[in-house]
Amino acid sequence: MITIVHCVGARPNFMKMAPVMAALGKRPDLFRQVLVHTGQHYDAKMSDVFFEQLGLPTPDVNLEVGSASHAVQTAQIMTRFEPVLDTYNPDWVFVPGDVNSTIACAFVAAKRGVKVAHVEAGLRSRDRSMPEELNRILTDQLSDLLFTPSRDGDENLQREGIPAEKVCFVGNVMIDTLVRLLPKALARWDHLQSHLGIPERFFLATLHRPANVDHPENLARLITALNQISAMHPVLFPIHPRTRSKIGRGVLSSRITLCDPLSYLDFVAAQANAAAVISDSGGVQEETTYLGTPCLTLRSNTERPITITEGTNRLIGDRVEDLPAEVERALAERRTARKPQIEYWDGKASDRIAAQMERIVYNQQPERELVAA
Ligand code: UD1
Repeated sequence: MITIVHCVGARPNFMKMAPVMAALGKRPDLFRQVLVHTGQHYDAKMSDVFFEQLGLPTPDVNLEVGSASHAVQTAQIMTRFEPVLDTYNPDWVFVPGDVNSTIACAFVAAKRGVKVAHVEAGLRSRDRSMPEELNRILTDQLSDLLFTPSRDGDENLQREGIPAEKVCFVGNVMIDTLVRLLPKALARWDHLQSHLGIPERFFLATLHRPANVDHPENLARLITALNQISAMHPVLFPIHPRTRSKIGRGVLSSRITLCDPLSYLDFVAAQANAAAVISDSGGVQEETTYLGTPCLTLRSNTERPITITEGTNRLIGDRVEDLPAEVERALAERRTARKPQIEYWDGKASDRIAAQMERIVYNQQPERELVAA
């Protein structure tokens, strides 16, 4: 029996850890699991509703760090996480993704000599002005086991000198959750659509990245572009708290419907039904690829290039003024496109992680690649 402490903190962590905990939970004789929520995201709509819908257990510990500057937030997570290691004495700490909670918990564990497993390792945007890129690079350097979602992750890690025996290509755990909950999400669509007053054809937009929303000029250009495309189809715009605090009243067209952040199931339903999604998120690029919905990403780079080469994603970068033309192009292409099939984005990535951990319990080396049963 080994003890694993799982660390989550921000919205995109929850759908990654839920399937991993469920897969490990099938062997309670082998794995004792402890869930720590750092409290990086704390609003009910950014956190609690995800726990309910994803079937995540109530966290054993909540560090309640809340919002602060990067340094303060990261430092507070570290200070409050250290005693958790004394309490539970884990063999492994699991950290997902690339948020501040990921690096903070990985760093504390590594310094205490506790093994770290990084779920969603190896992704690189090669843009060090993104806080998440620094979190990814550092977390990967500190990790003892690196579970990659796609083969480009393995290549990036090899280039950075990470020994191959630490790296396991398991596939995309976020897609595990999507595969499991898609039918439930789709069943909610009619109700949500009439509740929000959304027509048959609509665009879905999200924006929260500091580079887009913290600079008033950049945000104004993006709002102008969203207003323009809303002339084509109405836009549903669930708004992240960070963006809500920056957006002025009256600047949005009346064809843009603002709403609070949607729950996981509602957001998946909206992505599946949208004519196209316009976003600066990381995970949305993957979910739209799986769903076959065109995605226009308001960034100059992506740590998920497979969503461009094999999926439905397209980078808009600084060419915000081109957004209306790009949207039209994406709609035209969608009519002929086949739904992408990406290797190991099959709902079984977490089972592969559990199989690797079983090997470790039995004192065997993890395998570079495992085919899930
Ligand atoms: C974080 C992640 C980002 C991820 C995003 C998903 C980092 C560096 N960034 O960004 O990678 O894509 O989560 O949402 O970890 N706020 C609330 N309520 C909440 C949470 C935040 O009002 O529950 C507001 C606060 O004003 C806060 C701001 O949102 O200052 C930003 O929150 P923070 O956790 O610092 O970063 P995100 O922008 O959410």
